[in-house]
Amino acid sequence: MELEKIFKGAKDFLPLLGTDYVEFYVGNAKQAAHFYKSAFGFQSYAYKGLETNSTDCVSYVLVQDKIRLVLTSPLNSKSPINDHIVKHGDGVKIIALWVEDAEKSWEETTSRGAKSFMKPTVEKDEHGEIVRSGIYTYGETVHIFVERKNYKGTFLPGFQKWESPYESEPVGLKYIDHMVGNVGWNEMNTWVKFYEDVMGFVNFLSFDDKQINTEYSALMSKVMSNGNGRIKFPINEPAEGKKKSQIEEYLDFYEGPGVQHIAVATDDIISTVSKLRSRGIEFLSTPPDEYYKAVPFRLEEHNHQLKEDIETLKGLGILIDADEEGYLLQIFTKPLQDRPTLFFEIIQRVGARGFGAGNFKALFESIEREQAKRGTL
Ligand code: FE2
Repeated sequence: MELEKIFKGAKDFLPLLGTDYVEFYVGNAKQAAHFYKSAFGFQSYAYKGLETNSTDCVSYVLVQDKIRLVLTSPLNSKSPINDHIVKHGDGVKIIALWVEDAEKSWEETTSRGAKSFMKPTVEKDEHGEIVRSGIYTYGETVHIFVERKNYKGTFLPGFQKWESPYESEPVGLKYIDHMVGNVGWNEMNTWVKFYEDVMGFVNFLSFDDKQINTEYSALMSKVMSNGNGRIKFPINEPAEGKKKSQIEEYLDFYEGPGVQHIAVATDDIISTVSKLRSRGIEFLSTPPDEYYKAVPFRLEEHNHQLKEDIETLKGLGILIDADEEGYLLQIFTKPLQDRPTLFFEIIQRVGARGFGAGNFKALFESIEREQAKRGTL
């Protein structure tokens, strides 16, 4: 795959250094923070709330290696955050991107048609200054551009260091590999064009409903990447099937487009998933024996040798996919809140740069088993 050539097609008017943070709007940030700490091994990092003169909302910032999660709840009925939670339930509001120049990022994107969420704004404290700006993407989801080269404090001005008497052992989550958006019927190409035209991304992989389907349902997906390949946003739309697709179920319960899953990378998926399971995280059901019997052949086709023990992978329900460059190991959690919306993927790449297309069928069949239990298939 000539990925480097494809990435060169990206335009460089919006250089992105990485994902800065992901902010969730949730009903009870205090309890959500405890869940992501105790179950997922995130560490306490920063806090704002009544104690720091934030009278409108409270935010807990959690960190694990390069991943920063922000969990935010409103503190009164007037906060607009309430409307987001009433409509969508708990979910991702902000995918923040780390940039050299937040003002230029806003100008380049809004001049290309992005709807502004936040004009370039300087925030200061004794540790320096941060510039942030923001634009809307699909649904009510937002990209915030964060310029932090002149800041030495904890997270952002307005936050204090969060010293907690309780920390859990990290589970080995390292960085965000990709974040997937679900959009409505026939909207995928609109958002592909948005990422191309407004943000200078390139479409480097596509899957149509012929590739991603089961007996019952189907979806289409296109993977968008920025020029350095650090930011990858697959965009899904539902496709016609005999029964309701998982994307439709998401759109019904999130009441519109939004972030479907956050894929986080680990160097040792066996250790990570063992720890997550022991802490009560539930994953989609393990595929049948036939799936694992076929794995050696799928790897041999591409001349790769599985380093991990297949019985251990099977015992944990970890999926395996291979392409010409290597293989990848992945697993998907069940939804992380009561609405069947957002979930996490845990992924370990051993050379492969794909997204597990070879697993889609096995994966969707197990999602459909869950949908059938919910009566939404
Ligand atoms: Fe994924």
